[in-house]
Amino acid sequence: MPDNVPWWRSAVVYQIYPRSFADTDGDGVGDLPGVTAHLDHLAWLGVDALWLSPFYRSPMADFGYDVSDYCDVDPLFGTLEDFDALVAAAHERGLKVVVDWVPNHTSDQHPWFVESRAGRDSAKRDWYLWRDPAPDGGPPNNWVESWGGGPAWTWDEATGQYYLRLFLPEQPDLNWENPEVRAAMYDVVRFWLDRGVDGFRIDVVHALGKDPALPDDDPELIPIPHSALHHDPRTHGILRELRTLLDGYPGDRMMVGEVFLLDTALVAEHYGDGDELHLAFNFPPLFCPWDRDAWRSQLTRTADALDPIGAWPSWVLSNHDNPRHRTRYGSEARARAAAVLLLTLRGTPFLYAGEELGLEDAMVPPEREVDPGGRDGCRAPVPWTAEAPHGWAGAEPWLPWPPDPGVHSVAAEREDPSSVLHLYRRLLAERHGSPALTLGGCALLDAADGVLAYERVEGEDRRVVVVNFTGETRPLDVPGTVRVASDGVGEGGSTPAELGPDRALVIEP
Ligand code: GLC
Repeated sequence: MPDNVPWWRSAVVYQIYPRSFADTDGDGVGDLPGVTAHLDHLAWLGVDALWLSPFYRSPMADFGYDVSDYCDVDPLFGTLEDFDALVAAAHERGLKVVVDWVPNHTSDQHPWFVESRAGRDSAKRDWYLWRDPAPDGGPPNNWVESWGGGPAWTWDEATGQYYLRLFLPEQPDLNWENPEVRAAMYDVVRFWLDRGVDGFRIDVVHALGKDPALPDDDPELIPIPHSALHHDPRTHGILRELRTLLDGYPGDRMMVGEVFLLDTALVAEHYGDGDELHLAFNFPPLFCPWDRDAWRSQLTRTADALDPIGAWPSWVLSNHDNPRHRTRYGSEARARAAAVLLLTLRGTPFLYAGEELGLEDAMVPPEREVDPGGRDGCRAPVPWTAEAPHGWAGAEPWLPWPPDPGVHSVAAEREDPSSVLHLYRRLLAERHGSPALTLGGCALLDAADGVLAYERVEGEDRRVVVVNFTGETRPLDVPGTVRVASDGVGEGGSTPAELGPDRALVIEP
């Protein structure tokens, strides 16, 4: 790859939800030494960077997205020394490390909030968004919480005011208009940059800027959480400050923002003039059904919104908040074809641990449900070995195993060249070996009904990707060599005359 390309443009990022990745101390919850122990597997797979979901001190009301100390590791996951060892071991293997930063809210147990709540005259009262009740005694405005549909406000009896919390009552929103809050949170960023991290995934970043008047939402938009926050210019000011902070550090430090706005044009605004986010998650494709026309329009919309401003896209099919794409799309054939799509589109792909095994969501019986947002299924533990306890240190994991954990274990799939794991590995190798797939432009091609076809080109290098979204065989008119096939059949041979149901090919014309 050319030297002047920042790493995050040509990288494939692998998301690790530490609770569910690998347990080394036998408490049924994954930990940082578990991540370090499996870095060789990730290097073998061929990813370039890890993103670690929160491992900070937390009462775990939202499993770590409620932080009570941003600058320490929760004992459940290990120690700061474990973190340093992880970063050193990752860097030795050429893997970048991205950590989650949760700036919109803290835990209600964070000392800042404890102090803020202590009284109306507390020095930190204004670090959070406290407001008097509406004249009828109800919440100060009509904003709704992210899950459950109730008000985004919690009443504090002792001080007679409400505090804003867009998520759980245990996750009070910080007041980013207060300069002390900004200074404290930027110190957190510096703390991790100084420890050598290569970047941040920023939680609900679009929600940071808030009009201090906290005006009511447009009544039509009330069912959509955070809709009042879509256009607040304050968010962009914060992003520019952060960008300046990151750019002041040596090396390419990157920030990817969770912009949970289901409109790609609004997502694009968070790249600024190349002076805000490096990458923004664009979630409409994650919610896109298995349908050629729907996917074709996602590609067009993404290019229309991002290309004119020189912004680099990102793509994601699965994460810790949504059912896995293997589960959503309903078959392994589709999940395999979707992997070909994900890893050949123009932009930075994000994988979610376990998707490279073709894991389905776990069936979680009501007595084992733990997440207030109903997201337990996709957080099932990753099985490492075929026999129970599947490479976990002993105790029953915090969530049930996904279906057929032995068959879908890393060990079993590594032995089987036709496994989903080997498909991901071949795709990653193909991507890294091809300037067209890594950095090239993308042009849509005409294809048979229900087939998506596009061409990636960079200099002399060229690949055509075809994905059959239908359950029927379709004609295929692309002469060349099959570099990767979603089902592994016919790789290295010349292109067939037909494309099988839910099958995808990467072709070198
Ligand atoms: C983001 C996270 C999610 C979390 C929420 C509140 O959406 O991805 O897991 O619950 O923010 O922090």
